[in-house]
Amino acid sequence: MLNFPNYLDGYFFDLANASAESKVLSTCYIPCVMLHKTLQVQHAKQLKITTSVRIPAGWAMKRMRKRILVTGGAGFLGSHLCGRLVARGDDVLCIDNFFTGAKDNVAKLLAHSNFELMRHDVCMPLYVEVDEIYNLACPASPIHYQYDPVQTTKTSVHGAINMLGLAKRLGAKILQASTSEIYGDPTVHPQTEDYWGHVNPIGPRACYDEGKRCAETLFFDYYRQHRLSIKVARIFNTYGPRMHPNDGRVISNFIMAALRGDPITVYGDGKQTRSFCYVEDLIEGLIRLMETEESLIGPINLGNPNEITVSELAIQIIASAGSRSKITYHPRPIDDPMQRQPDITQAKKLLEWYPTITLEKGLAHTIEYFRDFKE
Ligand SMILES: NC(=O)c1ccc[n+]([C@@H]2O[C@H](COP(=O)([O-])OP(=O)(O)OC[C@H]3O[C@@H](n4cnc5c(N)ncnc54)[C@H](O)[C@@H]3O)[C@@H](O)[C@H]2O)c1
Repeated sequence: MLNFPNYLDGYFFDLANASAESKVLSTCYIPCVMLHKTLQVQHAKQLKITTSVRIPAGWAMKRMRKRILVTGGAGFLGSHLCGRLVARGDDVLCIDNFFTGAKDNVAKLLAHSNFELMRHDVCMPLYVEVDEIYNLACPASPIHYQYDPVQTTKTSVHGAINMLGLAKRLGAKILQASTSEIYGDPTVHPQTEDYWGHVNPIGPRACYDEGKRCAETLFFDYYRQHRLSIKVARIFNTYGPRMHPNDGRVISNFIMAALRGDPITVYGDGKQTRSFCYVEDLIEGLIRLMETEESLIGPINLGNPNEITVSELAIQIIASAGSRSKITYHPRPIDDPMQRQPDITQAKKLLEWYPTITLEKGLAHTIEYFRDFKE
């Protein structure tokens, strides 16, 4: 039996440059894993290969170029993810209905031959050939997801069904961008993955929270029923360049107000806490999770555990932006959580992941990006 070393798994062999003897293996590119399996099944004789066959020195080996679908790829997180995957050399198909995303977010990627952009709504089935799916499509800020709550639930639920169906047909690995909102207004602090949450199922945020919870249910049912390879990431507040400037989220709101010199609106007494993860850190976490072995399915929290009160955040943004804005206080909206902080013990242990970019540095990059939008 041929034994190919593990480190060759996942690589293509460039047979065009192979010796004549080696070409007997195939006339086209064969992934090593498949080759290995073929040889085990068909036995070496059938292919006129003996156990003495070695991978000839000097063979050009390329990292396997994966075909990766990113739904919601023209959004804030999606565009950063597409950028990372394209830079890594993968073939990336970005689909988006541009509800909150923008072509501008991925405009620079269009120059790359390994990037493709398609207008598509995940509520409709999709027939493409890919190896991995990152399912990010869904408006993420309250203003946007409450604009058309029925569509928000459909996007999470129908979108999950369609993408899971696609993954099932292809035998592809699929990652769900879930959210800390599935914990609702938590009674456990910080939130660990085994906490089931405290969600109001009939409130104005339910279209998002319950939609995402149902999507997680679907992922786990596809895993149990169809043995699909799934990964579920529970993403906590993330910020950075390409956030929507008018998405009503706390960081974008505060930065825009600070840059315009407008009053900064803090809801409640400002003592509610949040923790913010810079986008580069988050994307690293998503990619690491996707690349774990099949048995690691999550859910896994990804976020920055460093807590800050909303008032402290406002003060820090005013200082970083060099602004003269004043802070004003308004009543706290319904279902707005008091505390939100991820417990990332699992991510540290299983992904060797933790955020590395400080709030100070992340805010500086984000403020620079937002200066263009202040008018
Ligand atoms: N940014 C965060 O802090 C955060 C936190 C938790 C979870 N998430 C999750 O991460 C994902 C991306 O969030 P984001 O911050 O980049 O938000 P975003 O709004 O910038 O991106 C969402 C993208 O999905 C697209 N989209 C929406 N509905 C669609 C549909 N029906 N079909 C196809 N495309 C559709 C939008 O046009 C947009 O490009 C979302 O699923 C969100 O729930 C984000």
